[in-house]
Amino acid sequence: MNKITTTSTLSTDSLSREASSPGIQGAGLGLRRALLSSLTGKDVVETSKDTFDFFEVAPENWIGIGGRLGRQLKEISERTPIIAHGLSLSVGGTAPLNTGLVKDIKSFLDEHNMPIYSEHLSYSADDGQLYDLLPLPFTEEAIKHVAARIRQVQDILERRIAIENISYYLVPEQQMNEVEFVNAVVKEADCDLLLDVNNVYVNSQNHNYDPSEYINQLETEHVSYIHVAGHYREDDGIIIDTHGADVIDPVWGLLEQAYSRFGKLPTLLERDFNLPALSDLTNELNIIKRLQNTNTQQSINLTPNQKVAGAHHEQSAA
Ligand SMILES: [Fe+2]
Repeated sequence: MNKITTTSTLSTDSLSREASSPGIQGAGLGLRRALLSSLTGKDVVETSKDTFDFFEVAPENWIGIGGRLGRQLKEISERTPIIAHGLSLSVGGTAPLNTGLVKDIKSFLDEHNMPIYSEHLSYSADDGQLYDLLPLPFTEEAIKHVAARIRQVQDILERRIAIENISYYLVPEQQMNEVEFVNAVVKEADCDLLLDVNNVYVNSQNHNYDPSEYINQLETEHVSYIHVAGHYREDDGIIIDTHGADVIDPVWGLLEQAYSRFGKLPTLLERDFNLPALSDLTNELNIIKRLQNTNTQQSINLTPNQKVAGAHHEQSAA
């Protein structure tokens, strides 16, 4: 664990976020079905109600789900905010955008009163049905292509979305570096950035760049919330973004740096595999909260995806 230091100086951008609209804040958890029995019904773990400030779900895993699972999701959403993180839209792909899925997502967001929808800055092979997230080339052409599709999604959803920096293993064509590409896409699309600090770390190790410099170069007005996760280092040194292990110290350090730069942004712990006991997850949630409160001493809510009312050129703060 890195030494936690108090940061008294914040950028103008992060200070200005204090006045943002009410929304989610604090520390949240990816909602896996394995956790449902601990979070709902007569077996609910009472302390869990206060531990999780919000949950995140993949709409593809829940759209059209009724019965017991549907009731459990409804029970949780009535008590704790839930936000949506898409898996398969292939927003950077070349196949026609799956507008039917986007409309289903809109209904899903409205049904559960979800303030946020995010997707990955990537494309999927096999017309978006596989959950593999492949990197776009870091080129001007790709910026224009993916930004136009993000704006199309925002127009259908009638709200801003957040786009996430992904981990990648095959090096794409590069006219610029990764952070320049990410900055350019969110600016061109007029969307928010979901900053995954573990993905920054994974890519920095696999592709030999300084993760701290990456965080410093991000354009602050676009960052709206954060993912943090664990990963797996293979014998050959390659790091795989598994979401199946505890968060390691260098990643906590990047999270601390992100709070120092962007303010106390709401943060989600991604844990999809090798799920430990709820109490272990709670410990990592508490580290997030401690870093948030130690670094900034101020509350910066996650602005709900704001209505764009068909006017994607409107400039709105994250
Ligand atoms: Fe993530």
